[in-house]
Amino acid sequence: MIIREETPEDASAVRKVVEAAFARTAEADLVEALRDAGDGVMSLVAEVGGELAGHILFSKLQAPDRCIALAPVSVTPSRQNQGIGSMLIREGLARAKRDGWQAVFLLGEPEYYRRFGFSVEAAAKFETEYPKAYFMARALVGRALEERAGAVVYAPPFQALG
Ligand SMILES: CC(C)(COP(=O)(O)OP(=O)(O)OC[C@H]1O[C@@H](n2cnc3c(N)ncnc32)[C@H](O)[C@@H]1OP(=O)(O)O)[C@@H](O)C(=O)NCCC(=O)NCCS
Repeated sequence: MIIREETPEDASAVRKVVEAAFARTAEADLVEALRDAGDGVMSLVAEVGGELAGHILFSKLQAPDRCIALAPVSVTPSRQNQGIGSMLIREGLARAKRDGWQAVFLLGEPEYYRRFGFSVEAAAKFETEYPKAYFMARALVGRALEERAGAVVYAPPFQALG
């Protein structure tokens, strides 16, 4: 398996992977809207046997400063449960840390994301319009979350997802 940065030629294959993973178009539309608006921070793909099998996107947050959002992460249904999602998340977090980002927020299943160091507790003091039971955070640098507070404001294209 290869994990690499998405290139412009990947756009239609990424759309297929995201649509297949979520069995609807909303998340694929979100990926494109974030890309078009310049709100993407990092977009990685997983290639298996020369085919695109997974994708992950990190996007800018309007607040807190120097923090980013992880969403969505998608793996082609026939390739799920083979470690591809985990590789994308681990590689993405390592690159984000290397690039100087301070913390990552996401909305997701705690049972899955706990293994990557995310917790509901770390995000608890931050304000969000999303359900707190699924709202998680992970610091990339020391006390980044202790040093921040207030609302977590996603990039505008997230509003369309509802
Ligand atoms: C969630 C997803 C990205 C995980 O990728 P993956 O490559 O299948 O996962 P991995 O092989 O790295 O990890 C498999 C583990 O994750 C668990 N897992 C997968 N989806 C899960 C979910 N929604 N909730 C809880 N656990 C989940 C599996 O049970 C398995 O657990 P185990 O290691 O204890 O056996 C992938 O299943 C997917 O694309 N799902 C549909 C889209 C989605 O829900 N994306 C996440 C929200 S942004």
